[in-house]
Amino acid sequence: MKKEDLLKQLQWEDPFAGFTPHSAPESWSWHYDEAFLQSVYARVPRPQLIAEVGSWLGRSAIEAANYYTRRGWQDFTLICIDTWLGSAEHWLQPGLARNLPRINGYPVYYEQFLSNLALAGLSEQILPLPQTSLNASRILFSLALSFDWVYLDASHDQMDVLMDLSMYWPLVKPGGALFGDDVHWRGVRAALDDFCKLHGLIPETSEKSWAIWKR
Ligand SMILES: C[S@@+](CC[C@H](N)C(=O)[O-])C[C@H]1O[C@@H](n2cnc3c(N)ncnc32)[C@H](O)[C@@H]1O
Repeated sequence: MKKEDLLKQLQWEDPFAGFTPHSAPESWSWHYDEAFLQSVYARVPRPQLIAEVGSWLGRSAIEAANYYTRRGWQDFTLICIDTWLGSAEHWLQPGLARNLPRINGYPVYYEQFLSNLALAGLSEQILPLPQTSLNASRILFSLALSFDWVYLDASHDQMDVLMDLSMYWPLVKPGGALFGDDVHWRGVRAALDDFCKLHGLIPETSEKSWAIWKR
């Protein structure tokens, strides 16, 4: 689904309208499990509507969107959900806290996210939704939207991941995937195992990533 059509349907403004990107993209440091994630994209070759929960500066969004645009598929929208306030570890771990830019104590990296996506030439495909994962799932559910896939990479706390799995699984279309990062984190693994047990699902995993598919 083209973003302009989705925006008309939702009666939302385009967050990129009138936005002037910074002159240079800011580097991002998260690892990217290319082989596993591309194997998921390949199984959904022409998505209409996809979502990512946890976008940070846009690395995973850029990789996913580029995967499709470089194969000649442009007519999709990727909704990027994030508070752009950081996860608990960005506040607690000194190494990560150094990478959380703040002004007067308030995180300020949303604009850099917009800039990175604009400079990557993806403003036609990307729709940021600055919300908590829980509120965003309620908004998307109320709008009766459904997704070819949803990528989870927000909080890695067990209860939060369980909530994200529970809220976003109903938003995935039959044949689509819910997948995510950091399955080697204890909270992510425990939540995924609990969720899969409850729903009779068998997760596909690599060392770092996981995916579940909806029949
Ligand atoms: C690990 S980073 C995402 C990295 C990104 N996927 C990438 O590849 O660069 C996690 C992001 O999730 C966001 N986040 C954490 N908990 C959240 C929540 N409950 N709701 C929305 N966003 C959240 C943080 O603000 C942070 O930007």
